[in-house]
Amino acid sequence: MHEIRIAPSLLAADFARLGDEIASVENAGADWLHLDVMDGHFVPNLTFGPFIVQAMKKVARRPLDVHLMITDPWRYRDAFLDAGADLFTFHVEVAQHGDVGALLDSVRARGVKVGMSIQPDTPVERLLPWLPRLDLVLIMSVFAGFGGQKFMPEVLPKATWLRTAGFRGDISMDGGIGSSTIAQAAAAGVNVFVAGTAVFGAPDRAARIAQLRAAASGAYGTAAAGA
Ligand code: DX5
Ligand code: ZN
Repeated sequence: MHEIRIAPSLLAADFARLGDEIASVENAGADWLHLDVMDGHFVPNLTFGPFIVQAMKKVARRPLDVHLMITDPWRYRDAFLDAGADLFTFHVEVAQHGDVGALLDSVRARGVKVGMSIQPDTPVERLLPWLPRLDLVLIMSVFAGFGGQKFMPEVLPKATWLRTAGFRGDISMDGGIGSSTIAQAAAAGVNVFVAGTAVFGAPDRAARIAQLRAAASGAYGTAAAGA
């Protein structure tokens, strides 16, 4: 059984009050803080870089789960590690731009957990060469770039495939995760849930995180168990 973790995506936060928003979701029970870094090239949106991550690190009490939607994670590796990333996740779709194995090893050599993310239209088999060296796989259940999109259930078999393939790390899902979608993700074997709109848009964030956690815990792995 992998630990169920709720990771609110700060993309949905009020950036004019970022420190307060971090404290708010941490007090509400967030396990990780999911930081959506976008370069305006790998994805059409442009968000923030290491400078903001460093500012968040000063006030955060929970791990920083950095999701790099950028074309060149090799170039910015040290900047994000120095800024305080606790998890460093980049996309398999940029693999042709550099030595993935060397990147994985160099991040882990600094004691930081490393992950790879896959877009909805990327076959999960693309991760095979690196699976044993990953701490986490981030399955996109929307096309990366923007919050508030509709959950894509067609990606769910990727989680089941990973568990069946013997992947023992964390499986995270990102995009459109909320009260009506989290149970099916957990049933497929997902144990880390990125939720932006569902958490930051909730009138009571603690109640929402508790509700998400309960729904995920109750459903975790049941699809694999054939329940
Ligand atoms: C999209 C981001 C997601 C997104 C989640 O590229 O990676 O983390 O912010 O947003 P919601 O939970 O609002 O669908
Ligand atoms: Zn994300």
